This record gives sequence, C-alpha cells and structure tokens, in this order.
Amino acid sequence: MTDRTPLIVGNWKMNANHLESIQMVQKLSYRLEGEDYERVEIVVAPPFTSLRSIQLVLEQDHIPVLLGAQNAHWAESGAYTGEVSPGMLAKLGVRHVIVGHSERREHFGETDEMVNKKAKAVIGADMAAIVCVGETLDEREAGQAEDVVSSQLQGALRGISLEDGSVLSIAYEPVWAIGSGRTALPDDAGLIAGLIRRQLVDRLNSEVAQQVRILYGGSVNPANIKDFMAKTDIDGALVGGASLDPDKFAAIVRYRL
Ligand code: PGA
Repeated sequence: MTDRTPLIVGNWKMNANHLESIQMVQKLSYRLEGEDYERVEIVVAPPFTSLRSIQLVLEQDHIPVLLGAQNAHWAESGAYTGEVSPGMLAKLGVRHVIVGHSERREHFGETDEMVNKKAKAVIGADMAAIVCVGETLDEREAGQAEDVVSSQLQGALRGISLEDGSVLSIAYEPVWAIGSGRTALPDDAGLIAGLIRRQLVDRLNSEVAQQVRILYGGSVNPANIKDFMAKTDIDGALVGGASLDPDKFAAIVRYRL
C-alpha cells in the first residue's frame, strides 16, 4: 500500500475578511510546530478576497501551510462575470481547489458535468482538485448512499486519467453531516471510503488510485477526528466550522497527539 500523507483542509466558506484571515492563519501557525507540517499536509481555503493576503503572510513568515480555494471556473478567461479561473488561482500559489462542494451543488446548481469540467481545469492548471461527493439524508434513509456517491464519482471523473494520484482528493461529505454537529459513524464513512477506493482502482491504474487521498467531511472536530483517521481508506478531513477556530483546527491537525 502506498503511504499517503494525511491531508487536512480548512474550508472557511464565506467567512473572514482579509484582515481577519491574516489573523486566523497567524494564530494557526503559533499553535503548530515543524513536526506537524511534516506529518500532515495542511491547507486553508479562505474566500477569494483573502487569498493574496494569506499568500503574502505564508511567504513572509515561512509558514508551510498550503493555500486552497473553494471553487474555480473551468475556463481560462472570458465573459464569465463573477467567476475566477484556475490559472488566476495557480498564479496566487493556490495548491488545492475544492470542487463540487454540496453547498455549490445545492445553492448554485452545480451538476456532475460542471464538477467534471472544473476538476479537469484545476488539474490542468497544475493544482490538485478536491472533489466532493455525498448523499442527502433522504438518500441515506432510502439506502441509496452508495449509489449516489458512485454516480457522483463517475460523473466527476469522466475522461480524467492521471499519472500522479496526488493531484486528486475525494472528499466524502454526507450532506446531512455538514454543519449539523451530526457526523457519520466512522465505520459507515470507512465503508464509503473503501467503495470510493475500489472505484478509483477500476477507473485509474491501481498504483495511481492508491495515491489519491480520500477525506471525510461533516462536523469534524478535535474529539472525533481520530476515529475517522483510523479507517484504512480515510486519509484526511475537510473541515468547515471547526477550521474557523485556530485552536480547534490545530488540534485536528495534531490528531495523533
Ligand atoms: P462542517 O463543514 O465541518 O462545518 O460540517 C464541512 C464542509 O462543508 O466541508
């Protein structure tokens, strides 16, 4: 089995102006030590308006936190008012881009086809795509969780072939667990992660599929992270609410301690 470096991503969503963002990332860095960065790939994904400010702080203070973005358009440039292109993000030093978050699917009508175009464009711009999949409560209760996740995954990965699996992560985020304080059972999340891994093996070559990191997301906090990370196919977490608190986010990054 490939050794996958754990990946912990803070999704700040639409929170924190650029000044607040600077403070948050500085506070986070005070709570982390050199070893933490060696053990875990740590990403913060602030709103677009904070990217440049955070990039400068990370550079000036030599903080090895990686910069993430919460979304990107698939085109390189053009008449797409209000959108931001992968190339623009790459130029800012962004390394990971979240695509297909359930909030974007629900509130902004993102389809599997759009998620697929975005994932391709992000990888094409030499960044890593974090593709989000997950079922709603109705779907879980109807016993459809596996089918929904499989079909979202197939849709998102259509036509994508990779030589290096580290440019792709899949975040399994059951919609009912996001921001609700209610998490999936680690065993259930582990089963879905296993299903995702098997599909990746079928779709990509097996070695590449083993390099892809699978994250769990949905009400992750310092108390529950360890149980998720103990699952064979779960390699990290996509953290919303708790990532806004540097103490909590640092504690999640240091889940081993
Ligand atoms: P949450 O959000 O940790 O607040 O549940 C997770 C996410 O939406 O990525």
